[in-house]
Order: sequence, then C-alpha cells, then structure tokens
Amino acid sequence: MSNKELQALKERYVAAGAASPNEQFADHATNAELWDADGKRMIDFAGGIGVLNIGHRHPKVVEAVKAQLDKLMHTCQTVMPYEGYVKLAEKLSGVVPVRGHAKVMLANSGAEALENAIKVARAATGRSNIICFDGGYHGRTFYTMAMNGKAAPYQTDFGPMPGTVFRAPYPVPYHGVSEDEALRGLKMTMKADSPGKDTAAIVIEPVLGEGGFYAAPTSFLKEIRKICDEHGILMIVDEVRVALAGPARCLPLSTAALNPT
Ligand SMILES: Cc1ncc(COP(=O)(O)O)c(C=O)c1O
Repeated sequence: MSNKELQALKERYVAAGAASPNEQFADHATNAELWDADGKRMIDFAGGIGVLNIGHRHPKVVEAVKAQLDKLMHTCQTVMPYEGYVKLAEKLSGVVPVRGHAKVMLANSGAEALENAIKVARAATGRSNIICFDGGYHGRTFYTMAMNGKAAPYQTDFGPMPGTVFRAPYPVPYHGVSEDEALRGLKMTMKADSPGKDTAAIVIEPVLGEGGFYAAPTSFLKEIRKICDEHGILMIVDEVRVALAGPARCLPLSTAALNPT
C-alpha cells in the first residue's frame, strides 16, 4: 500500500491518542537507513526515539529473534519462567551500577519500569513522597505523568494528577540554573514540601531527554546519592539516554535503576 492509502486507513482506524503527524509509513529498514511505503529512502535520525542503539535489523539481533521464535513465543514468565529472562537478569545485574547484588525486573515500557520502581521505593521505605526534577520526562501513565516536569503537553486535559510528587530544579547552566542553585533548590524542596523522613525516592534522569538533552554533572548525581543516604531515601535513575552522554555506567536499555551508587 502507498503512503497515501495507509494515511487514509490511519485516519479512519487509529485513535487520536496514538496519532502521528508523519504521513510517511516505514516499510523496511537496515542499519541507519529506512524506506517508506512509496520506496523513498531516508536516513533514520530518530532511531525509535534514541532506542535503536545498534541500528535496524543487526544480523545478530535478527538471528537471535528468529532462534527464539523457533523455540517458543510467550509463556508469561510469572506463570512459566524461561532461560532468556533469567539470563538477561543476570547480565543486567552484572552491569548496573548499584550497591551489592542487584536483582532485575523486566517491564514492558519505561513508564512501567518507573511505576514499579516507585512501588518498590514506597513499600521499602513506608513513605509516600517522590521528588523529581524540572524538565524531566518519565512516561504517560498516571503516576509518571504527574512526575513529568513539563506540564504541557503531557498533563493537559488529564488532571487531576496523583499527589505526593514534588519537584526540584535540574542543573542547566545554559538556562541559568547552576549546579549550586539546583542543589539549593532540592534542599528547599526538602525543607518546604517533602522532608527526608517523608520521601520515598528521588527520581532523576542523568541526561534530560524531553527537557532538552542536558547531562547532569556527575558531582550533582553524587550529591543526590549522599542526600539519599543521609535520609534513607531511595535514588531512582531513569536512564534512557545515558548511553549517549555517559555520566554513569552505560545501559543500552530503557531502565529505572533503583539505588545506584
Ligand atoms: C527518560 C524516560 N523515561 C521514561 C520514558 C517512558 O518510556 P515508555 O514510552 O517506554 O513508557 C521515556 C520515553 O521516552 C523516557 O525518555
């Protein structure tokens, strides 16, 4: 089908919530190149919003997917576990920069990872408050929407948001917020809104994505680590884009790492 025909189908059958302004439709792709339904070839600068770290259809990935399909497609691992889940958990545990022995839970999306990290933090601390940062983006489910530090467009028309989410400034000197000011802001949030004893977690993107692709200085992340340790708060690092800028160890997945060092 052509782009035009697919666009007509999309307008008729795809819900507005999943809308795309793009009227070209991907047909196939290899490495960094993509062809649309009319055969037009282009360079894919989007990469699924920065998640195709090794491009489209790397032969090793294709081979692994085919091998899995030949064995088994789905069981739901909570009903019937399988080797791939356990082996990936072992691999991630070996690279994630958290203290001691890390355990892994795989989720369907970044938002789901964050929601679960918050559940773990609340259950582990017995506290409810969450502190996150201006410009941060964590997803489109209700709690992650509330955590997004960019009200429009993410919260528009969907309120009221869940409570107990508090915000602090993210250090972006280019926009006039130095590291010292951001730290002062965080301490002010903890004084005015969410004292340590009530805070379950501080959630931060080491590299802001939606907020403008700014990396937090390593010293700032270390200060947060210190504050969390002082108050028994869990630190949640939402790192989709660390692989690009690398202030911490590199994870090529959308993850929510709980209590990194
Ligand atoms: C930093 C960050 N956290 C969470 C998410 C949400 O991920 P998902 O769309 O897979 O729910 C995103 C998505 O872009 C993201 O950039």
